[in-house]
Amino acid sequence: MPKQTKVITPAQQRKMLHKNLSFQAAEAYKLLRANLQFTLPGNEGDGCLIFGVTSSTRGEGKSTTAINLSYTLAETGKRVLLVDCDMRLPSIAKKMEVANSPGLSNALVAPGNDIKIAIRPSNVLDNWKFVASGDIPPNPSELLGSHRMRSVLKALAKEFDYIVLDLPPVNLVSDALVVSPLVDGMIVAVREGYAERKELRDCIRQLGLSNAKVLGIVMTDVKGDGKRYGKYRKKYYYSKYYYSDHHDKRDSTHIED
Ligand SMILES: Nc1ncnc2c1ncn2[C@@H]1O[C@H](COP(=O)(O)OP(=O)(O)OP(=O)(O)O)[C@@H](O)[C@H]1O
Ligand SMILES: [Mg+2]
Repeated sequence: MPKQTKVITPAQQRKMLHKNLSFQAAEAYKLLRANLQFTLPGNEGDGCLIFGVTSSTRGEGKSTTAINLSYTLAETGKRVLLVDCDMRLPSIAKKMEVANSPGLSNALVAPGNDIKIAIRPSNVLDNWKFVASGDIPPNPSELLGSHRMRSVLKALAKEFDYIVLDLPPVNLVSDALVVSPLVDGMIVAVREGYAERKELRDCIRQLGLSNAKVLGIVMTDVKGDGKRYGKYRKKYYYSKYYYSDHHDKRDSTHIED
């Protein structure tokens, strides 16, 4: 199936994000939040939980999911940080309508650079902050897989209850895989009618090989009622947003035809 790109105006883009979400979309993200909290219960006193959001290919809705998930987590009053780890095609700063630097790459290149200089207010909720990806470096996967990245995340985990990492796609670059040991769980965004089934299968396999804990699949841009997925997964379908349970490790390594 050919990948379809669609042109989305800035106004349409804004309507898909955080406080501008429709009631139905906001409810779908709350269901996602509830399912994640159920899957990895209680960070009360247990420290910070780190989620990664990735996909098999480009343009599947990772960044949109990462923004809305982090916002929805922050709505509970928890301290939440969204981090753009896509240093090749950054988009969080653009979607939050600010400049992309300083950001994560600037904090990683020089040990003297404190990540705190890169933490920005969302201007939406006081307890919801974000870090842009920063100046585009020549070596994103080395930076993301570095000891420095580990220690930066460790420092951030002391300041936040949840960290959501917006990662590049698994099948194109190794960035998401090198980060996977640092996260508590990985969420895979799948845009309906976009990636080939084989691409998703390869993505899940790669994540499995790197011992990532795949918590679930978020289906984006769903048309119709999503019934055909119901045979395999418990489903929650609201308008364009669709979250499917995908907790079973065996299922997560096998995509049904
Ligand atoms: N649930 C959705 N319904 C409809 N369109 C969506 C949805 N989620 C994202 N989109 C649109 O699809 C496009 C790609 O979304 P997004 O930037 O979130 O994807 P991505 O996976 O992060 O892309 P990239 O791989 O380039 O980083 C955007 O124009 C976005 O507005
Ligand atoms: Mg993105």
